[in-house]
Amino acid sequence: MKKPTQHLNSDNHFLLKALTSAFSIALCLSISVSKADGFDQRQAIPLTPEHQAQILKNMRQMQGGVQQIILALAENDFQAVAKHAETLGMKDEKRAHNPLHQALPTTFKKMGKSLHMGFDQLASDALTINKTEHTLQQLGQLMDKCQVCHAVYRVEKSVPVQNN
Ligand code: HEC
Repeated sequence: MKKPTQHLNSDNHFLLKALTSAFSIALCLSISVSKADGFDQRQAIPLTPEHQAQILKNMRQMQGGVQQIILALAENDFQAVAKHAETLGMKDEKRAHNPLHQALPTTFKKMGKSLHMGFDQLASDALTINKTEHTLQQLGQLMDKCQVCHAVYRVEKSVPVQNN
């Protein structure tokens, strides 16, 4: 007679424990989400998952481009400096016709444009001025634009818009 009661009790106990830990996990999750929102004051740009992946890829390419410029500069290879800087410049016509471009706020695009124009200037100066200090200073100043934009914006996945 005693045994089944004990069994039931331990089952209840187990259920209670499971519910308590599920509740704690849910609470932790909601706290961490609201904390993240509270601490991150940057403006969120809603993008489709595809556009988000695309913009982050562009960013990684920019970081790679900057790395290539530094390496070329270390070798005093100004042709290579110019070549790598141009890949980050305005010549990339594809950019303007990209639907991602239309999804971005105007201020964001202006900041991006000024950065791309800066890389064109860096490329042409590398070929005409040929001075490491000059190019390094330009690069350092251009990277201010990375910093400023990163301080203001972040991207956020939004539900993709159906076109049909
Ligand atoms: C006009 C705005 C803007 C400019 C200019 C800009 N970025 Fe970004 N970058 C962003 C945003 C927005 C993100 C996403 C941040 C987030 O959601 O947390 C980002 C993310 C990144 C990332 C992370 C990519 C990933 O896979 O998560 C790298 C690396 C990066 N940027 C490099 C650069 C470099 C290097 C420069 C300058 C040469 C630069 N960015 C200039 C807006 C900008």
